[in-house]
Amino acid sequence: MTLDLKALVRTIPDYPKKGILFRDITTLIEHPEGFKASIEQIAEAHRHLGVTHVAGIEARGFIFGAGVAIALGVGFIPVRKKGKLPGETIGQNYALEYGVDTIEIHADVLDAGDTVLLVDDLIATGGTAIAAVSLLRRTGATVANAAFVIDLPDLGGAAKLEAEGVEVSTLMA
Ligand code: PRP
Ligand code: HPA
Repeated sequence: MTLDLKALVRTIPDYPKKGILFRDITTLIEHPEGFKASIEQIAEAHRHLGVTHVAGIEARGFIFGAGVAIALGVGFIPVRKKGKLPGETIGQNYALEYGVDTIEIHADVLDAGDTVLLVDDLIATGGTAIAAVSLLRRTGATVANAAFVIDLPDLGGAAKLEAEGVEVSTLMA
C-alpha cells in the first residue's frame, strides 16, 4: 500500500490567528517514510529536467529542498530572508499581509545557462514563490519549474506562478 502523505500533515485551527487553518508539515517530516517519500517523489518528478541547482526558500523550503538537491545530485541554493547571507547579495521585496519582506541570494551563485528547480513546503498566495523566481531569474538563470509539498488552491498562488511561466507541481492540495 502506498503511504498517504496528506494524512501525515496536521491541521491546526486558529494559528497564527483566529480563523486560519494552519497546515503543519512537522508531523510529515517527523515520519521517516513520509519525509523520505515526499523528497523522493519531488526528485523523481523532476529528474528528467536535468536542472543544475535546487533553490529552497527559508525556512521550511530548506527542509525539502536540501533533500531534493541531494537526491538529484545537484547543489542547493538557500533563498534567505534579508541580512542573513555573508557575501554580496541581490534582493527582492514582496508583499506580506501587513508590510513588506525581502528575500536574498548571493549575487554570484548562478549564471545564464543554469537551470533551477524552486522548492518550498507550501504555496498559498504565491507572493513568496513569485519573488523567489524573479530574484533567481535576475542572475540570467532559467527557472521553469517549482515544486511544493502543499498547494492551498483557494488562495490562487499556483495559478499566478504558472502565469509567470513556471510549471508548478504539488504533492497534495
Ligand atoms: C510560508 C511558506 C511559504 C510561504 C507561502 O513561509 O513556507 O514560504 O509562507 O506563502 P505565500 O504563498 O502566501 O507567499 P513563512 O514566510 O511563514 O516562513 P517560514 O518558512 O520561515 O515559516
Ligand atoms: N500552513 C503553513 N504555512 C502557511 C499556511 C498554512 O496553512 N498558509 C500560509 N503559509
